[in-house]
This record gives sequence, C-alpha cells and structure tokens, in this order.
Amino acid sequence: MAEDYRRGGKNTQRRRKGKTKNHRGGPSFQPKTGDAVVVNGYSERWLRSGFPWVYQEEVIGRAGSLVPGRVVTICSREGKELGVGIWDEGHIAVRRFRRGKGLINADLLRDRIQQARARRVLPPETNAWRLIHGENDDLPGVRIEIWDTVAVITLDSPSLKGLVDPLVEVLTTELEVSAVWLHWRGDDPRFDEQQSGLIWGARGDSELMVQECGVNFRVQPAAGHDIGLFCDMRPTRQWMAPHWSGRRVLNTFCFTGAFSVAAAVGGATEVISVDLSQPYLDRAKANFTANSLDPESHTFWAEDTFRALDRLRRKGEQFDVVIADPPSFSHGPAGTWSVAKDYKRLVSACLRVLSPGGWLIAATNLGTISPKEFKGYLIGGAEKAGRHLRVIHEACPPADFPAALTFPESRYLKCWVLQA
Ligand SMILES: C[S@@+](CC[C@H](N)C(=O)[O-])C[C@H]1O[C@@H](n2cnc3c(N)ncnc32)[C@H](O)[C@@H]1O
Repeated sequence: MAEDYRRGGKNTQRRRKGKTKNHRGGPSFQPKTGDAVVVNGYSERWLRSGFPWVYQEEVIGRAGSLVPGRVVTICSREGKELGVGIWDEGHIAVRRFRRGKGLINADLLRDRIQQARARRVLPPETNAWRLIHGENDDLPGVRIEIWDTVAVITLDSPSLKGLVDPLVEVLTTELEVSAVWLHWRGDDPRFDEQQSGLIWGARGDSELMVQECGVNFRVQPAAGHDIGLFCDMRPTRQWMAPHWSGRRVLNTFCFTGAFSVAAAVGGATEVISVDLSQPYLDRAKANFTANSLDPESHTFWAEDTFRALDRLRRKGEQFDVVIADPPSFSHGPAGTWSVAKDYKRLVSACLRVLSPGGWLIAATNLGTISPKEFKGYLIGGAEKAGRHLRVIHEACPPADFPAALTFPESRYLKCWVLQA
C-alpha cells in the first residue's frame, strides 16, 4: 500500500516549496573529505532524536561539491558531527544512513539487511513480505519486497542510484533470490527509466504465485506500484480468517481482490467485489482461480464504488461484512475521490447496506490523516446513516512493516474492524 511520508504541520508546508533541480551527476559512495552540510538547530534536535532526514530549508551551510548522490557529513552549527548521509535536491536535502562516521557501502547495507531480516517474524505459509521498510530499517528511501524468490527494490530518489549495485550484491549473497527488480517511487523527472526493470537474474514469467497464510496470490514484480498485493494488510486478513464463514461480503475498492479471496477461502457465502478497473478485477478473478475457487460463483463489478453502493441501497441489499479500503486520491467517471473529502460519505454509504450487527472493515493508508481524524470520519459517517459503531479490532502493521518511533511518518496505516 502506498505510504505517505510527511511530517505534517506548518514546517512541511513551508518545506514543500523547495525547488527541485535536475542533476545527473554520478553518485560517489566514498565520502570526499570536506563534503559537508551544516544544519540549523531545529534539524539538529530532530537528528539527535533519531529523525533520518534533513530538509532543504534546514541547511544553513555547505562545503565541497554537492551533487545528488554525494555522501556528506552532517554538522551542527558548532561543528559537531551528526552523521553521514546522501545529498539530494528535492525537499529532502539529506537522508542520513549513519549516526556516526563511516562509509555507505555493501558492508553497511549487509549489516542493515541482516538486522532487518532478524526482525521479520512471518506467519506460516507466507513468502510475500517486506525485507526493508525504508527509514524504519535504517535505510532511508529504500524499500525491498520479497515475492517468493524474487526481490523488488523501490528507491525514493535518483540520488540513491549508487546503492543499487551494493544492494544487489548483498541480496544475492544473503538471500536465495532468483531475480532482482528495480523500481522508482513517485514521478521525479530525474528517474532514469532505462535503469528500472530487471537488474539481476532470470526474467521468468510475468506473473508468479506467492502465498500469504496459505492463500495463493498472483503478483507481477515487473508492475512497479501494481505488483498486486498489499502485505501491510496481512494482519487484518489473518485476524478475519475465522470470521468469514457463512457471511455475505462486499469489498469496495477491491483492487486485485486480496480481501475477496481471503473471504471466499474462509467460507463466505457470496463476495461482491467492486473496482473501477476491469484489469484489476481480471486479476482478482485469477486470484480466485489460483485458490481453486470458481469466480463465477461470486460477483465482480467494474464501476465506481459510490454508484454500486447507491444501487445496492435502493435494492435493499444487506451484507454481513463491508470492506472500505480506498486509495488516498483517485479520479473516476463519478468525479474525484479523496479520503479527506469523502471518507465520511463512504462510511455512511457502506453502513446503509450493512446488516444489523454487521462488520465494517475501514482502512486508510494516508499518513496525513491522524487516528483522531479517522475516528471523526467514522463517527460522522455513522451519524449520517443513523447507526452506531464500536471498534472490535484495531489492526497493527506486521513485523515486516516496523515503525521507528522517531519517524512519525511511518505510522500511516489505520485499519479498524467495527461493528454496527
Ligand atoms: C489502494 S487500492 C485498494 C486496496 C485494496 N482494498 C486491497 O485490499 O488490496 C485502490 C483501488 O481502488 C480503485 N478505485 C479508485 N477509485 C475508485 C472508485 N471511485 N470506485 C471504485 N474503485 C476505485 C483502484 O482502481 C484501485 O484498485
């Protein structure tokens, strides 16, 4: 699921105005003596508490030739060293990789990957997981997912390009991977399309089968943001496993149908899956087939969720479980969707088709929405529909999505199971 990394608040707004220049200088991962930045007191306090970034506005001095990718020493106004990081020219000026001195090389990456690997506790029959969760595993801007034996690296910035070769070296020696894919996050014009795609090993089939708690899913490592399974929702699917049996389920914004398949595998009597995208629905059907479930026994609608909910309400349809896990923003035939503007309306529309005592699975991965605001949308939506909600389960991201306490951006996910 696409996380939103923002610190939030006044400073962020001011920081976002930072200009992005287009540099293509090759990165050097040997610190050049003298390449350094001096940060203001505000940044120093955050860095000392463990925050991994320096924003452009916080840089009050610089020395050496700073091009994106250059390794720099971060210094306080008094000249104290606050660590070593990689220089960039977006609104993040430096991503800090070390709190002390040292190189940013394969040995460092190996060490961080081994530590992250040791933290991962996966449920049985699961081979789809996140090995590196960026800042939270002390590798800022770097995400690595494992799909059976295929590793997918996603980098937040072209300035991190110099990490690719050492990462591949470590992945291919530390884990038994058969292929490594590289993707870039966001739409930074500096991303070099030539350099994304398969970067090591065998291409293999465009789709491969992975398992989550014994349930099969087809994923496409070449598809970048659309690989096909959001592993941070695994605990919710796992928690729900004993609760689907005999229930009628509606999955709105269903994507490739991970919840729909989990429900059908768990014995749901009928699952209706709604998504704007027919290609995603086709992948959802393929996921049913991958679990020996007949997609013809269930229903797939390619349409706007609100239109589907409206039709179901008018027909007096009722569901035992409704899933509302929408994107943060989207554009569709029925207009623009955004969590901040529309979540309350979504909750009330879902509750109008939820049976008495039924369960609503409500989620958002938008980091800028606090749990308090999220609760506000749920209360507002329930009031509008004339229903009352109580939380019966609050899902926590799994161990392969750790959250560094000193990096507030990492606590993006809200996913509650509520009874109406
Ligand atoms: C973040 S994904 C949802 C993740 C999904 N719930 C899961 O568990 O894997 C967003 C999905 O919402 C779909 N979508 C976006 N706007 C929509 C709309 N207005 N109505 C229905 N689906 C929509 C997109 O096509 C995409 O598949």
